[in-house]
Amino acid sequence: MFGVFKKALGGRPPAVETGSLAGRVAAAGLTLDSTLRPAPLFKSYPALRGTKLSDRYREYFFAAKKHGLAEVEQLVPFVNVPPAATRAETFTAQADDAAGAQALLAAFPPATWGYYLPLSKDFGTLGRKDAMPPGFRLSQRRSDYRLNFIWQGIEAMLGGSIAGSSVADIACNWGGFSIEAHLRGASSVLGFDIRPENIAKAGRVARHFGAGSIDFRVQDLFTHEVRETHDIVLNLGLMYHISMPWEMMKKTYDMTHGIAVFDTVVHRESFSGFILGTGEAAVGHAATAIGVELHPTYRGLIDMAYMVGFKDVVELHGIPDPAWPDFDKEPYGNKTRRCIVAFK
Ligand SMILES: C[S@@+](CC[C@H](N)C(=O)[O-])C[C@H]1O[C@@H](n2cnc3c(N)ncnc32)[C@H](O)[C@@H]1O
Repeated sequence: MFGVFKKALGGRPPAVETGSLAGRVAAAGLTLDSTLRPAPLFKSYPALRGTKLSDRYREYFFAAKKHGLAEVEQLVPFVNVPPAATRAETFTAQADDAAGAQALLAAFPPATWGYYLPLSKDFGTLGRKDAMPPGFRLSQRRSDYRLNFIWQGIEAMLGGSIAGSSVADIACNWGGFSIEAHLRGASSVLGFDIRPENIAKAGRVARHFGAGSIDFRVQDLFTHEVRETHDIVLNLGLMYHISMPWEMMKKTYDMTHGIAVFDTVVHRESFSGFILGTGEAAVGHAATAIGVELHPTYRGLIDMAYMVGFKDVVELHGIPDPAWPDFDKEPYGNKTRRCIVAFK
C-alpha cells in the first residue's frame, strides 16, 4: 500500500507494486500520479543518492550558504570567556596519586572514556599524559576547553562563584561536569545518565577525586520524576541525540528554579526548526528506541527556550585559545555547536 512512499524515502523496493496501488485507486474512481518533482538540486533524488539524509542535507546547506542564507547569527547577548585550557589540571589534590590513577585505568582503560580528566600528575582518563595518541590529545583539548568555558561562564553570570549552589547534570556520561561542580563548591550534585556503564565510570572517577557525595544515578531524562529543583541544571551534549526536543527542554525547565545550560549542535538556517538526523551514527548515539535525532537550528534552540517559559537567554562564547591553531574548524569555532544559559 505505502510502497510508493517508501521508494521516495529510501529507494527501497516498493512493498506493493505501484500498478496495483494505482489499480485500486482507479477502481475507487481516483488517479494515482507517480510523477516525483524533487528540487533541481536533488534531481537524482531519491534512489541514486541512497538513504543518507546527511548527504542530501549537505547539498542543501552548501546551496543555501552560497546564496547568503546560512550566515552565523548572534541573537542573544553573550559572555566572552577567556581560554584556560588547563583548568582541569588544577585538580591537584591527586597529583601524586599515580597508583590510584593506574588502578582506575585498570578498571576503566583509556579507550572506554572518550573524555579527558586529569587523574594525577602523569595520568589522565585517556592514559599516560606524555604518551597519548593525537586523537586523545584532541579529546583532552576539547574536554578541557568545554569544562573551562562552560563552568567559568556560569560562575561569571552568578557573580563569580557557584559555591553553595545545587547542581543537576543531565546525561552526565563520564561525570566531568559534575565533578567540576563539586570541586567548585556546589552544595549538592546530582548526575544522571541513561547508560549504566557511564554511571559506573562516573562513580569511580568521582571516588578518585574524593567527590563520593555526588549522587550519580542511572536515569532516563524522559522518565525522570522531578521531585526537587536545582539552582543550576546542565543539559550538555544531549539535545542533538534525542527525538523529543520539546519534552527535553520542558523537563529541564521543570528541574530548575534558577538557570539551565544547554550545549548542543545547532544548524545555521535562520528559522526555528529541526533537521532530521538519522542513519548509523544516529542509531548508535541517539539512545532512543527509534534511532532518530532532531537537531535544532540556532533560532530553534533559543525560541524553544523562551516558549517553554525561560525569561532570558544569554550565550557563552569561549574565546579561541591562541595555542589551538585549528580552532576555527572546531564545532565551537565555526558555531555549529553553541552553549546558552536560560534564566527561569
Ligand atoms: C554526547 S554525551 C554528553 C555527555 C556530557 N553531558 C557532556 O556534555 O560532555 C550524551 C550522553 O547522553 C546520554 N543520554 C542519551 N539519552 C539520554 C536520556 N534519554 N536520558 C539521560 N541520558 C541520556 C548518553 O548516554 C551520553 O552519555
